Amino acid sequence: MLCKKLHHAAFRCKDAGATTRFYTEVLGLKFAHAMGEDHVPSTGQYSPHVHIFFEMEDGSSIAFFECPRDAGNVKDLESPDWIQHFAFEVDSVDTLLKAKADMEAKGIAVVGPTNHDDFILSIYFFDPSGHRLELTTRTCPPERLKEFEREAPRVLEVWEKTHDWSQREQVFGASTGYARGGKAA
Ligand SMILES: [Fe+2]
Repeated sequence: MLCKKLHHAAFRCKDAGATTRFYTEVLGLKFAHAMGEDHVPSTGQYSPHVHIFFEMEDGSSIAFFECPRDAGNVKDLESPDWIQHFAFEVDSVDTLLKAKADMEAKGIAVVGPTNHDDFILSIYFFDPSGHRLELTTRTCPPERLKEFEREAPRVLEVWEKTHDWSQREQVFGASTGYARGGKAA
């Protein structure tokens, strides 16, 4: 494959200091790099900013720009809050539930855990800029992953025909929820 793994995904933040405290103290990420620029390196555009990187165990990062002189919003305010988000994988359901309890003890509102099709189990919360974050853990065996992969093109095909799930039984076996092969998933 050309693409080996995630290096970083970057978002705009309101406040680099508050962002650094959140990602290091609440989520335990490594504050791995901070770059200060007056001009955007790729375009040369004038925009004094700081670009900060927070690294996960596998070396991948979530990154932010604080760029106070630029127009626009810190996040997409037109779309519903739940759409744009960034998900971190954790190692188990126990870790997920402990993270939820730890964050709630710090006064952070947490939604979930939410089961997504017996594929992953997730919790959700917001960072200091209002970006939605997810902690998730895998809850299905490898053979099930193969089934999901086989099913995916058919799911897309039905979606492209209808743009709603009025015909969801065709792929998921039930008019609500999931009941593939006649047995509830
Ligand atoms: Fe997600």
